[in-house]
Amino acid sequence: MSWLSCCRAEVHQCNVPCKKKLIVGKPINNGKSLRSFMHTLSLKTDDNKDKMAEEIRRIGKAKVSASIFTFRELSAATNNFNSNRLIGEGGFGRVYQGYIEAVDQVVAVKQLDRNGMQGSREFFSEVLMLSLVQHPNLVNLVGYCADGDQRILVYEYMPKGSLENHLFDLAPGQQPLDWNTRMKIAVGAAKGLEYLHDFANPPIILRDFKASNILLDERLNPKLSDFGLAKLGPTKGKDHVSTRIMGTYGYCAPEYAMMGMLTTKSDVYSFGVVLLELISGRRVIDVNRPTEEQNLVLWAEPLLKDRQKFTLMVDPLLKGNYPVKGLCQALAVAAICLKKDAETRAVMADVVTAIEFLARPKDNEIIDAELLNP
Ligand SMILES: Nc1ncnc2c1ncn2[C@@H]1O[C@H](COP(=O)(O)OP(=O)(O)OP(=O)(O)O)[C@@H](O)[C@H]1O
Ligand SMILES: [Mg+2]
Repeated sequence: MSWLSCCRAEVHQCNVPCKKKLIVGKPINNGKSLRSFMHTLSLKTDDNKDKMAEEIRRIGKAKVSASIFTFRELSAATNNFNSNRLIGEGGFGRVYQGYIEAVDQVVAVKQLDRNGMQGSREFFSEVLMLSLVQHPNLVNLVGYCADGDQRILVYEYMPKGSLENHLFDLAPGQQPLDWNTRMKIAVGAAKGLEYLHDFANPPIILRDFKASNILLDERLNPKLSDFGLAKLGPTKGKDHVSTRIMGTYGYCAPEYAMMGMLTTKSDVYSFGVVLLELISGRRVIDVNRPTEEQNLVLWAEPLLKDRQKFTLMVDPLLKGNYPVKGLCQALAVAAICLKKDAETRAVMADVVTAIEFLARPKDNEIIDAELLNP
């Protein structure tokens, strides 16, 4: 029995409602205008920026209206980008917490670092993509500012920060995530990707799916962020988009890292890596571990082939509190997402079906009770 038929059989036994009914969020269908806009973006000189802003307003407004803020408003919101409001820093620039009176909302304000790795293209791509999508597992773009040289993104504030902050290098006294919460996060993140792949038209490939781009709300519900590198999927007749290689080392699918071939399956691979991180509590690349354990996927590869060794992969911080069968199934999902051959990798819709079942605590208890008293 394949991993999927095994999970499906159990899903049906447990009467999990049809997956499609569980999906919330509007499908988008702006393929044509979006493609022509992305073409404009690829010309990418700063002279185009007014045109880009106009296009964002035209296409984006058709769906969700992101507010346009002035630099003055955002300075006021963050107390002049005060360092005591700093909540993080990444390739795009610094992230501050702020409060914007006009919208009466606590927000995260991400300011492009002009000397950084990313630029105007990522900024406009992020604004456009986030203006077009709407789903409970995708972060909401409150607005943006493109005054003069400034490129600033304003998001809903996610009080629990990123998944990365909850999995690795925990602060003294910080509680590790329990098994069910880890699976709940995996399901939400998978649904966000499924929406981008199956409900956006053309499909959107996130390209930078990783633990630091999964943000968590007060109740640890996940939302995907960082669409700056996102790409529109292939058009009819083509099976992949060729693109210069960007993303984060370790999370990139082999065909993308080696040949720049980008499909929705590239995101599926990255999802498999994050699922392994959730299960093991290990970073995808960790130079502080012994050489043979530094690359999580290479370390896990032989262990994934031997059921007897599955428990060796579990995060010791779980202190043995996880359902054994749930672990086996979660690892089976990770393994099929990490297939080297993109063709044989799962699609996100199947991954959602399989792991939704794993995130139901009642079912986990029943499964373990059955295992103990066959
Ligand atoms: N909307 C938000 N709400 C709360 N915290 C956020 C929000 N967006 C980002 N952060 C915090 O800021 C940190 C930096 O985010 P950012 O997206 O700039 O970089 P990154 O994802 O860590 O790295 P990279 O640039 O390599 O993708 C995040 O890890 C998170 O802790
Ligand atoms: Mg990020």
